[in-house]
Amino acid sequence: MAIRKILEFPDPRLRTRAARVDVVDTRIQILIDDMFETMYDANGIGLAASQIDVHEQVIVIDLSSDRTEPRVFINPEVKITDDSLEGFEEGCLSVPGFSESVERPKAITVKALDRNGNVIDEQLTGLLAVCLQHEMDHLQGKLFVDYLSPLKRQRIRQRLEKEQRRRA
Ligand code: NI
Repeated sequence: MAIRKILEFPDPRLRTRAARVDVVDTRIQILIDDMFETMYDANGIGLAASQIDVHEQVIVIDLSSDRTEPRVFINPEVKITDDSLEGFEEGCLSVPGFSESVERPKAITVKALDRNGNVIDEQLTGLLAVCLQHEMDHLQGKLFVDYLSPLKRQRIRQRLEKEQRRRA
């Protein structure tokens, strides 16, 4: 396993649309292992492959505090089952140090494949629904800052660019 570099906003590669995975094989399972290691190392609860510059539809999530409940969603397709919106304070490993309230539909169903290529068909609510929708956005090249006002987004962009220049 390996820790991969996480791309940070406003890196244009984060705007790439991810392609569907054709076969869930060893290559994808190694990618999944690396994604978990990268996410755990960064203390995140979710990571999309897009964030490590791999543009395939793979998402990993673990909401448990002891990091023992790994979930994998490959080629996820979502249907909204309750379109009433709920606000949640979201953060993102690609937008480090910032969190803002984003409103999303409260309940969804997801169809996807797991790490063994088995079909998942589940109803999701609460934090798992929020997290999956956030990660699905990454696969479309979308970030949570896109839901904010242009002014707020610009402020976050400038602060992160400054930090990135300082590190370079
Ligand atoms: Ni994110």
